[in-house]
Amino acid sequence: MSTVLAGRGLTKKYGSTTALHGVDVAVGVRESLAIMGPSGSGKSTLLHTLAGVVRPDGGEVLLQGERIDSLGENRLSELRRKRFGFVFQFGQLLPELPAEENIALPLMLDGMPRARSVSLARRWFAPLGLDGLEKRRPGQLSGGQAQRVAIARALVVQPDVVFADEPTGALDQVTSEEVIRLLTSVTREQGASLVMVTHDPDVAAHCDRVLQVRDGRISGHQQYTVTP
Ligand SMILES: Nc1ncnc2c1ncn2[C@@H]1O[C@H](COP(=O)(O)OP(=O)(O)OP(=O)(O)O)[C@@H](O)[C@H]1O
Ligand SMILES: [Mg+2]
Repeated sequence: MSTVLAGRGLTKKYGSTTALHGVDVAVGVRESLAIMGPSGSGKSTLLHTLAGVVRPDGGEVLLQGERIDSLGENRLSELRRKRFGFVFQFGQLLPELPAEENIALPLMLDGMPRARSVSLARRWFAPLGLDGLEKRRPGQLSGGQAQRVAIARALVVQPDVVFADEPTGALDQVTSEEVIRLLTSVTREQGASLVMVTHDPDVAAHCDRVLQVRDGRISGHQQYTVTP
């Protein structure tokens, strides 16, 4: 499998806390990788470092073989906008915008005219089971619907990698199952890779591979042979 994103010898310190101790990780093209481990073990720090949100103190991050950790802030934020998608625990949708504009936002931020952005955004409603909800504001959506809008917003730029930190953390089990199925299948169909932090083994089981993190180190790997 060819690698889209890699971290080599990643180290990150916060004061006297070492959140990452020389972590090596490679994410394959179209691969979905779950990161699991105890609270405070460094999962979010690892995800944010791979995503160019947190700068490592040591080591390097490579996207399709090119270092991104040493890029200037402007280049890095452009790269995050164009090549990466993000899904958070609490959707983080803009409450005043209808669903279709929330999804269109990354395109508009990248300079695409509003009408064209919204028309591209509308294509995501059917595949994510959101038909008819185009004009609803986030406050008028269920938790699962809001997360599906957040998934569409992450994918609308056709990113190389989608990062998700506890994307089902605020959902009940049934909704969480539905959201994770859509997140993994739609991401794969788009040809993107997925890096996801989760505490839930049932959620992690939808990914191709699970990485266990403990005290800032990789403590184990698990490969699933069958992808649901
Ligand atoms: N901005 C920060 N400033 C100081 N310390 C931080 C910061 N971010 C993380 N840490 C510390 O780094 C360590 C790893 O944190 P991280 O958020 O990566 O853990 P996590 O595995 O995501 O935990 P959780 O499951 O609770 O979300 C912890 O000890 C945490 O307190
Ligand atoms: Mg975390």
